[in-house]
Amino acid sequence: MSVLKVEHVSKEFTLTLKQRRESHNGLKTLVAVDDISFSLKPGIIYGLLGPNGAGKTTTLRMIASLIKPKRGKILLDDVDIYDDIYTYRKRIGFLTSELKLDGFFSPFDTFTYMGKLYGMNDDEIDKRRNELFKSFGIDRFKDAKIKDLSTGMKQKVSLAISLCHDPDIIIFDEPTNGLDVVAARDVEEFLINMKKENKIILVSTHIFSLVEKLCDEVGIIVKGKLILDTSMEEIHKHGDLEKVFFDLYEGVEKL
Ligand SMILES: Nc1ncnc2c1ncn2[C@@H]1O[C@H](COP(=O)(O)OP(=O)(O)OP(=O)(O)O)[C@@H](O)[C@H]1O
Ligand SMILES: [Mg+2]
Repeated sequence: MSVLKVEHVSKEFTLTLKQRRESHNGLKTLVAVDDISFSLKPGIIYGLLGPNGAGKTTTLRMIASLIKPKRGKILLDDVDIYDDIYTYRKRIGFLTSELKLDGFFSPFDTFTYMGKLYGMNDDEIDKRRNELFKSFGIDRFKDAKIKDLSTGMKQKVSLAISLCHDPDIIIFDEPTNGLDVVAARDVEEFLINMKKENKIILVSTHIFSLVEKLCDEVGIIVKGKLILDTSMEEIHKHGDLEKVFFDLYEGVEKL
């Protein structure tokens, strides 16, 4: 069974002139992720928890191979993902809040288009679309223009599309953002089913209750550093997640 390891990964961004002026510290670069390491295993949901600007999206984008780490490595079964990046990408489903679907097209056509990009044939696309549209309740809206859908339905369409090629590594950035309680529960249930299928699952969030409900392991990221990487079982020995988070967070803020 596959294991995905993030080893001593860092990322820094070169700031634009405007960003430099706004940061008021004179630095030309910003360290978004600073030497973080953790592992993802099949059948385990890992939650990367942190406040705004902590480095969650940057970490997930590196694991999804959208941006390269400046230092460190990401290994799948001890092989650097960049040794065979095309095979790796076929195994990944990445959902980002920045994913923009073209509002002019329907969920049906967008899904078909993505399936073709992944090299799936028509039968495979039909089967997968039927399954996913049914489980996310998209069926009724499949021929509507995406621009006319509600925020929650757009998010569910994004989810379905990110999973069209049946990836075994699922990386979701803030998957329940903007969803009402009903839609959020659909997504949570879906992730629990994926866990039963032994997928590797990483979600980022700033919502404690989501991690409490869904995750087996948690990483707390603050100012680009992973200040905790442990099981939820271990967290519960010290109280609840919120208490553990704030104890650590206040310690980091004092530095
Ligand atoms: N392309 C970029 N250029 C410059 N700075 C960036 C870039 N992308 C991210 N950053 C900065 O890196 C830091 C980490 O950002 P990131 O988006 O990873 O945080 P996040 O934890 O996902 O935050 P949020 O909860 O707001 O989504 C922030 O200070 C952000 O402004
Ligand atoms: Mg983010």
